[in-house]
Amino acid sequence: MTADGRPARGRYPLSLRRSPVPWDRQRPTWRDARPTVIAAALKRASARPSGNWYVVGATRDVGPARPLARTVAGHEVVIWRGPEGRLVAGPGACPHLGAPLRDSPVRCGRLVCHWHGLALDGHPFAGWSPLPVHDDGVLVWVRLDAVGGEQPLAEPVIPRRPPPAEAVAAVYTGFGMCEPEDVVANRLDPWHGAWFHPYSFVDLTVVTAPDGKDAEEHASADGADTDEDGFAAPGDGLAASDDGFAVDVSFRLAGRLVVPVRAVFTAPEPRTVVMHITDGEGQSSVVETHATPLAPDDRGRPRTAVIEAVVAASDRPGFAAARKAAPVLRPLMRAVAGRLWRDDLAYAERRWHLRNTHRFPG
Ligand code: FES
Ligand SMILES: [Fe+2]
Repeated sequence: MTADGRPARGRYPLSLRRSPVPWDRQRPTWRDARPTVIAAALKRASARPSGNWYVVGATRDVGPARPLARTVAGHEVVIWRGPEGRLVAGPGACPHLGAPLRDSPVRCGRLVCHWHGLALDGHPFAGWSPLPVHDDGVLVWVRLDAVGGEQPLAEPVIPRRPPPAEAVAAVYTGFGMCEPEDVVANRLDPWHGAWFHPYSFVDLTVVTAPDGKDAEEHASADGADTDEDGFAAPGDGLAASDDGFAVDVSFRLAGRLVVPVRAVFTAPEPRTVVMHITDGEGQSSVVETHATPLAPDDRGRPRTAVIEAVVAASDRPGFAAARKAAPVLRPLMRAVAGRLWRDDLAYAERRWHLRNTHRFPG
């Protein structure tokens, strides 16, 4: 960190922590992590337009011979590359007798039903109609107006990312028994990072919460200025309408070797939370978490896909070599995301369970 408390960049891309604070000796963050602040941020996110766009998967997952398939909010969707190479999306049931097109092969840009050979080229046919689809270069989105019920947008709300030629992108996909809002709520609680994921994060400080007030002011009042539930007192400004959580945190590489960064979390639309690295190593890198509702399970419980794009960038000369090693890096990036989401999906599932049993939080 620099003298003003911001993460050092350039000279100290990696740091050795001098005196690691044991996990159970960290400063508790629960007083700052007020449920009302998280709920207010979630509410603001929910009110933003999505234009009815849903992330389906990674662009790289649309292969030449097989469609990308997903059941989004109960609607089977298939996506493949049409005759001109453009993406085509549409319902996942064959218009003849309903075969699951997710299992059908693609031949010369046509999706050929494996039951009786009906070939779709992306144009309407026998009651089958294409759906709006968008390829942003990393992720594929489909627009489902009947599901979203919002005013449609021509394109999805796509966060600012580093230029593709200067970045390595990897996409992790996980599944949880919860609703999209539970995934978003997890990401709008930055305070859990070093407590819940000590294997990845240390020295986490929420620098600004949505009102922009310096959270250290709350920290300095640790225990002294609390409401009746013991949370930081109302009226301290945390629930103001301003947005974005800025966090100083060190990512643990190995042992005491850490990478300090400043990260800013925002929710540009109801099912997306974005983390921008604004200072420190990997500045301009982005982690986009998208929550896509799937079909309920056989007991009627909701299921949600977490589709997380990590777009890593660095202005270090060595990063050009890293980009060349992208095929090796991507599985590692996915593994790191997967480790975190194993816990975060448990958080999201727990939240859904408590909501569903009317226990907490309202
Ligand atoms: S079900 Fe697809 S061609 Fe018959
Ligand atoms: Fe987490």
